[in-house]
Amino acid sequence: MTADATLAPPATGAPQPKAAPAPGALQIGPHTVWPPVVLAPMAGITNAPFRTLCREFSGGQGLFVSEMITTRALVERNEKTMQLVHFDAAETPRSIQLYGVDPATVGKAVRMIVDEDLADHIDLNFGCPVPKVTRKGGGSALPFKRNLLRSILREAVGSAGDLPVTIKMRKGIDDDHLTYLDAGRIAVEEGVTAVALHGRTAAQHYGGTADWDAIARLKEHVPEIPVLGNGDIWCAEDAARMMRETGCDGVVVGRGCLGRPWLFGDLVAALGPGRTGEGGDQAAARPDFAAVAAVMLRHADLLGRWLGDETRGVVDFRKHVPWYTKGFSVGSDVRRALATASSLAELSDLLGSLDQTQPWPAHADGPRGRTAAGKRVVLPDGWLNDPYECAALTEDAESDTSGG
Ligand SMILES: Cc1cc2nc3c(=O)[nH]c(=O)nc-3n(C[C@H](O)[C@H](O)[C@H](O)COP(=O)(O)O)c2cc1C
Repeated sequence: MTADATLAPPATGAPQPKAAPAPGALQIGPHTVWPPVVLAPMAGITNAPFRTLCREFSGGQGLFVSEMITTRALVERNEKTMQLVHFDAAETPRSIQLYGVDPATVGKAVRMIVDEDLADHIDLNFGCPVPKVTRKGGGSALPFKRNLLRSILREAVGSAGDLPVTIKMRKGIDDDHLTYLDAGRIAVEEGVTAVALHGRTAAQHYGGTADWDAIARLKEHVPEIPVLGNGDIWCAEDAARMMRETGCDGVVVGRGCLGRPWLFGDLVAALGPGRTGEGGDQAAARPDFAAVAAVMLRHADLLGRWLGDETRGVVDFRKHVPWYTKGFSVGSDVRRALATASSLAELSDLLGSLDQTQPWPAHADGPRGRTAAGKRVVLPDGWLNDPYECAALTEDAESDTSGG
């Protein structure tokens, strides 16, 4: 991708032919991911429409993980959950993220995915830091209970048949209770295919900077399986640098793509055939406002088609508006109106009323999305007393989850 103001119009057809994988391509079970770039699961964001946009910009290369699906809701066939388990016909491999706290329910959910051919890859989420989840021992609190983690992984891998199972986790609860090295070893012992590490503790939430040294340590600790690095990749050069500095096998990119699905084009260009990532930023897409507005309309339209209702699509799209327009001159009246738009025509008129020639804003390549630091991690009473206690969590540890 070149540094001009337009964006290659998303190809709406079949994925482009893939280049032959390089030696050392990321292997997730039977799936070769090359360049080794993964869209991070993000609740409320990485649904089929957003994955489609990212895939189009990447030319079909990379791995695009669904938003998190709770295992209990899946086995109960909750209507909203079943809507989330939807993949576009062009998506291959279909990658689904599950969140569960009960080994038996996780096993059931995985068997359902296999029996009903719902996905080609299963990722398990152990990274959620929000208090209402950790308070019940779920999310990023769970790996502290080594035996519970092991039981969940054993059930998942044992039920998955030929589907690869991966896990995504944080470093631990806080700096005094790091769990990622033990969790990585348990993952290897239980037959997990790859591990992804977000280089923050639960206590950090999204504050500070991600600790890439921890990614390097995990890579040394579990050389048997691919390690994916995650945290603070804002541009293609960051991705290349993470791979160089940590020796990780691939990168997982989350907030950097918010309102910027074309980042996947940059990532593939920088890490793709014969590329080392150096100079990746010179090749970065720097769309002007007209190009950004066109992607916004397409995103809102895809959401409406997915939800089966234009208004619902535009309403769901509202949360993306601040990310897409970050740094552009929008004005408070239009900004307010965009936040309440309810039809594609309204959205189109509002975007059309703005200066289409505005260049890509100087600071828009930096951090975006959640950046708040955490407070104390809330845990069940006595949670830290015994890492090897055979803990069992109540079912409500799965409710009110909101991602990683
Ligand atoms: C809005 C939002 C939703 C998220 N939802 C999930 C999720 O469902 N599952 C998960 O494992 N991580 C989730 N995460 C965490 C991201 O996958 C990722 O680990 C984190 O944002 C750090 O990567 P980044 O610096 O590239 O954003 C979420 C993050 C954000 C910002």
